[in-house]
Amino acid sequence: MSTLEQLKSELKSLSAEYAKIKTLPESERKSFGQKINAEKQALLSQIAALEESSVNIDIKPIDITAPFSANSEPTSLKVGSKHPLMTELDRVIDIYSRMGFDVVESKQLDDEFHMFDSLNFPKGHPARDGYDTFRTEEGFIPPAHTSTMQHRILKSYKNELDEDGQIAVVIPGRVFRNEDVDATHEHTFYQCEGIFVSEHATMGQMLGVLKRFFETYYNQDLKIKTQPGYFPFTEPSVELLIEKPKSLGGKGDGWLEMLGCGMIHPNVLKMAGIDPVKYKGFAWGGGIDRLVMLKYQLNDIRYFESAKLDFLEEF
Ligand code: DAH
Repeated sequence: MSTLEQLKSELKSLSAEYAKIKTLPESERKSFGQKINAEKQALLSQIAALEESSVNIDIKPIDITAPFSANSEPTSLKVGSKHPLMTELDRVIDIYSRMGFDVVESKQLDDEFHMFDSLNFPKGHPARDGYDTFRTEEGFIPPAHTSTMQHRILKSYKNELDEDGQIAVVIPGRVFRNEDVDATHEHTFYQCEGIFVSEHATMGQMLGVLKRFFETYYNQDLKIKTQPGYFPFTEPSVELLIEKPKSLGGKGDGWLEMLGCGMIHPNVLKMAGIDPVKYKGFAWGGGIDRLVMLKYQLNDIRYFESAKLDFLEEF
């Protein structure tokens, strides 16, 4: 019996009590009457409150373990889907994994040491300002690039140099920059970092890995070129460009800057306890959003974080 039904039946039995009044001695009638009146009022207000609220709606339990079918009730439920950036990130990871790279996710909250000091940014150097870094009141940093993971990876994978002769890791992750948002700039986006260390790592190997990556991702032959860049954590530092493929709207004339890369600076290796005389390394880092925008010819990065269902449903 529901609470409401129970209250109503109590009310009914209370009505029968009124008949008893006549049978009582005169002196007791008044107080007995007052007592059942009070009880009746209490019951009536409880019933009114319950009827007003939805508590007494007949709720059918839902079996949350039941398999979902598109035709099952209630029909307003929609099957969700993976965010396009996550689908593409999986493709990126898959390509690097097949080349033999381990995958480690970056942190979403880091500190000054990993963001700058461990990456050979001198204290007070203007290059620190170039990263439009957010800071919490406690001094933590939501990382402005996935390079914040370099020191950790070099240190924790150091043993692999003795065992396998190399370190090969990619680090995808979410990064944050405090800059004006427009069609090509977001405060929150994704990058993928890559690190390779061995006794004989060269710039040529790096360009080979990256060319292979882009050609596999876009599923076509591509031309690449480099231009000088500056990053305190690589020496030399370059920017890698790919020729905008015809199939992706290119007219055979445009070059697109895809990522920053270079030979890992000896100071970065040294800080992680790796001997820079014996070992060389290369590293790179670039935006996932940009990669995906080119693939699908999107012209506004803000769609990704917009939660616009009509955009997301296209994928
Ligand atoms: N972290 C740099 C950025 O976000 C990109 C980068 C450049 C990463 C050179 C690297 C590198 O690993 O070696 O602008």
